[in-house]
Amino acid sequence: MIDEAKLNQVIGQMLGDLGGASSIALVRIGDKLGLYKTLHQNGPMTVAELASAAGIDQRYLREWLSHQAASNYLAYDPATQKFSLPEEQAMVFAIEESPVYMQGAFELMTALLDNQSKVEPAFKHGGGVAWGDQAGCMFCAVARFFRPGYHNNLVSQWLPALDGALEKLQRGAKVADVGCGHGWSTVLMAQAFPNSQFVGYDFHPSSIEAATAHAAEHGVAANCRFEVGTAKDYPGREFDLVTFFDCLHDMGDPVGASAHVRDTLKPDGSWMIVEPMAGDRLEDNFNPVGRLYYAGSTMICVPTSLSQEVGAALGAQAGEAKLREVITSGGFASVRRATETPFNMILEARP
Ligand SMILES: C[S@@+](CC[C@H](N)C(=O)[O-])C[C@H]1O[C@@H](n2cnc3c(N)ncnc32)[C@H](O)[C@@H]1O
Repeated sequence: MIDEAKLNQVIGQMLGDLGGASSIALVRIGDKLGLYKTLHQNGPMTVAELASAAGIDQRYLREWLSHQAASNYLAYDPATQKFSLPEEQAMVFAIEESPVYMQGAFELMTALLDNQSKVEPAFKHGGGVAWGDQAGCMFCAVARFFRPGYHNNLVSQWLPALDGALEKLQRGAKVADVGCGHGWSTVLMAQAFPNSQFVGYDFHPSSIEAATAHAAEHGVAANCRFEVGTAKDYPGREFDLVTFFDCLHDMGDPVGASAHVRDTLKPDGSWMIVEPMAGDRLEDNFNPVGRLYYAGSTMICVPTSLSQEVGAALGAQAGEAKLREVITSGGFASVRRATETPFNMILEARP
């Protein structure tokens, strides 16, 4: 027997889900054509006014604006026939420094779709898909997705939560940012702590090129450089601080990485591991954050790890208990949750 009320609830959920999924291309068009920023700068505008300000065809724009208003991404005033970007929506769609800027998330959703043709065959044979072989500019999308979180938390909240790291960074410390990707975390730290030296390592050469360009662009080339290296063989030694931002779970051999970090840290050094927020049990993660991370994990993180030696495939929702096990198996004596946000847990490991 079909329970009508339950069926209607599922259908209602599907309408919402499909509405979100169908918005991905439209939000990205609005981002690329500067429509959110133009509306944010100018306030309420008619179709014709926005078309002229942004240099956009009016017919397409009217349809796009109608979708955005129907989605509650924009507001519409029938009396004036003007569309506007409310302040709260501006934080999500237009203001890059906002803690809830989500254009990177829409870019990442596109990367998940683009990855289907690579990941689907792996479901059958069980192998991985190497980070560098994944579709489109998944690396750009990942960097843009994580950047607002780092910009708003890393220097102000996360580093101060570590035991004594802030003082060392202010005096002059030696820091490795491993799995640095496009290097936004490294650049932010180098800007905040000019007396310290930062080196970003990643095994993906084109990410290292992008990171090097970002460092030059942001004027930190003097205390920040990038090198190709894996988490198990990067060459530096005697670091005061090693950081891993959203990458330990992507690694094939996270225990091997942990052991290498231990070898490259000073005896009183710290390892900061930033990982997606997750509970230890599957059922703890049946929430909107867990849902998004399981999708990213299936399409990006698990294939990345399975393409490497060992192929531990921790997944992006590994949870603190599993992460502690990995970290201590590499030889660390203590691990604690230093702080957290709704999206990340920040662990500190000491030798
Ligand atoms: C999800 S991205 C995070 C990138 C960056 N830390 C950030 O937060 O934007 C994971 C990164 O880990 C890197 N990575 C994965 N396995 C690695 C390994 N074994 N050694 C070094 N880097 C690795 C990838 O190249 C990628 O840049």
